[in-house]
Amino acid sequence: MTHHIFPSILDADPKILNDLLRMFEMQHLKGIHIDIMDGNYVPSFGFNERFVKWLSRETNLYLDLHLMVSSPEKYVDKFVEAGASAITVHSDCNEDLYYLITKINSLGIDSGIALNPGFSPESIKYLLPLIRRVLVMTTCPGRVGQNISIMSQKVNWLDKKRKNGNLNYRIAVDGGITSSNIQTFMCANCDDFVSGSYIVKSKTPRENLKKLLRVTDNG
Ligand code: DX5
Ligand code: ZN
Repeated sequence: MTHHIFPSILDADPKILNDLLRMFEMQHLKGIHIDIMDGNYVPSFGFNERFVKWLSRETNLYLDLHLMVSSPEKYVDKFVEAGASAITVHSDCNEDLYYLITKINSLGIDSGIALNPGFSPESIKYLLPLIRRVLVMTTCPGRVGQNISIMSQKVNWLDKKRKNGNLNYRIAVDGGITSSNIQTFMCANCDDFVSGSYIVKSKTPRENLKKLLRVTDNG
């Protein structure tokens, strides 16, 4: 299976965002990760649909939207119209997950479910055949600094489930991914890696990205 790194641009300095996008394209990345926050599901606010529209004009990278919002249904159409390539919603949002996932699928883009650290993948087992990706949160959304390695057990569980059930969702991790911990998740058979500040806040974003790519390309 091919692995992908999705840089999360939430913490990127807007002044260098264009340079970062060009660098991601030069490195032949598949896409970027975009955090949408409503100030309710998480205390902060993230990007909106106008920004997603701007990005879709600016780059051909796959736009991987992570909706950290309480009521995703009201945003889904807007973001698809704005150019989203994928929409991931949280397992503990206020809405019916089955309905949401079938709606996202019917709009012709990839769907995903994000699992916060305290949630078990068992809770979404009936939806696994319907989705393109499970996003395992290695930290609580909007917070930093937890011990993230233990989340590799969830990746293991999801990988076994996928093999036994002949399913083909991808498994991704999000939160605090760096060159020091990516290997743990590679060993658990994780496919995709969201990495934010390690890349975009570094003085050497290209070098840090390359450090991650060295691990995934050899995996
Ligand atoms: C966490 C967000 C992440 C975050 C990743 O609340 O969902 O996508 O931007 O950034 P780092 O890698 O800095 O934790
Ligand atoms: Zn995210």
